[in-house]
Amino acid sequence: MIIEPRTRGFICLTSHPKGCEQNVIDQIEYVTSKGEIEGPKKVLVIGASTGFGLASRITSAFGSNASTIGVFLEKPPTEGRPASPGWYNSAYFEEQAHKAGLYAKSINGDAFSHEIKKQTVDLIKADLGKIDLVIYSLASPVRVHPDSGEKFKSVLKPLEGVFTNNTVDFHTGVVSEISIEPGNQEDIDNTVTVMGGEDWGFWIDALQEADVLAPGFKTVAYSYIGSELTEAVYRKGTIGRAKDHLEATAFTITDKLKALEGKAYVSVNKALVTQASSAIPVIPLYISLLYKVMKEKGLHEGCIEQIQRLFSERLYAETTETDEKGRIRVDDWEMRDDVQAEVARLWKEATTETLPTLGDLEGYNTDFFNLFGFKVEGIDYDEDVNEMVEIPGLQ
Ligand code: NAI
Ligand code: NA
Repeated sequence: MIIEPRTRGFICLTSHPKGCEQNVIDQIEYVTSKGEIEGPKKVLVIGASTGFGLASRITSAFGSNASTIGVFLEKPPTEGRPASPGWYNSAYFEEQAHKAGLYAKSINGDAFSHEIKKQTVDLIKADLGKIDLVIYSLASPVRVHPDSGEKFKSVLKPLEGVFTNNTVDFHTGVVSEISIEPGNQEDIDNTVTVMGGEDWGFWIDALQEADVLAPGFKTVAYSYIGSELTEAVYRKGTIGRAKDHLEATAFTITDKLKALEGKAYVSVNKALVTQASSAIPVIPLYISLLYKVMKEKGLHEGCIEQIQRLFSERLYAETTETDEKGRIRVDDWEMRDDVQAEVARLWKEATTETLPTLGDLEGYNTDFFNLFGFKVEGIDYDEDVNEMVEIPGLQ
């Protein structure tokens, strides 16, 4: 079929297999070009199909020749209807890994459930024995709690009164003011249940009980802090409470890993265009200004550059540097004073008319379509492509 982008709000309903394949190949080439990292050998990535999780899987496999198991929740294709992009990403990742002689298998299902945890444990036992790294990179708006069956929804709300600021519709380029009503305790609780650390802890408990963690085992989950411009809706909002909880969970997990001399980390990453971040109000305007400033200063990174740096210069460096709260920081360039000052200055001037030159709206837009395999360089979008791609090592 010939596949074109069909967008609705901040999602794209279609995805292009060839574009997704090219994205995976480009990420592999980047990691390979940076040389070998003396890193992990047997890795489980939870949320492995897109964004930071996919980049973590690629960096493990192609930076350190690691065997990888990927867990994700993606929609398979049906005749005439493309799969979700993470499906294609995973299919082509596995194809490349297998070509390189690397073990790679995947599990598609709800990572929050007991069933998928059990299936993953069984696969590790059967194929890998013990693993030495777990990356936790889930981003989800909902979670069905595995014990109660209750469904929780996360929300993106401020907590200190009504928050009014500018935002941009990145499809039309229209900058407008939005006001978001503050969340209440229930909103906080729901968001913490979905995006906090409980499920990360459940995963490590399940893996530890099954005795599949190797001595010196590490686990990393991803967090975000960001600027004063976005803190009302992000770090000081409902999602920020979930990130506080996630960060606190790293310490609880580390305590449980003592006998193994294992360690749980949170890595604070840079703001990037992903399916998850496009849905957050105000963030797209911030990112389009941030991209402009960081590109001008030669500091811009995508998911793969971020994670390659995380592995090579933090996690598997001689010493893993952390901040005063024990967190690894690869948002250091985003948070540089000169970068933040410039973004804050541009923020005041950004309007529908000025944003195309002040900000990198085009870069935002391209990155957004790239997530779905569109606007990827070198792809002929008039070509008839097969949407019925299988994931070779899908369990
Ligand atoms: P993403 O949307 O690209 O990836 C989410 C992953 O989770 C996908 O692999 C998806 O299949 C999987 N997933 C979602 N629900 C699932 C479920 N129920 N069962 C199994 N798999 C499921 O998101 P992104 O942006 O890579 O986010 C990953 C983490 O990084 C999140 O914790 C996010 O807060 C964090 N982060 C994101 C930043 C950004 O700017 N995008 C910045 C810093 C941190
Ligand atoms: Na991810």
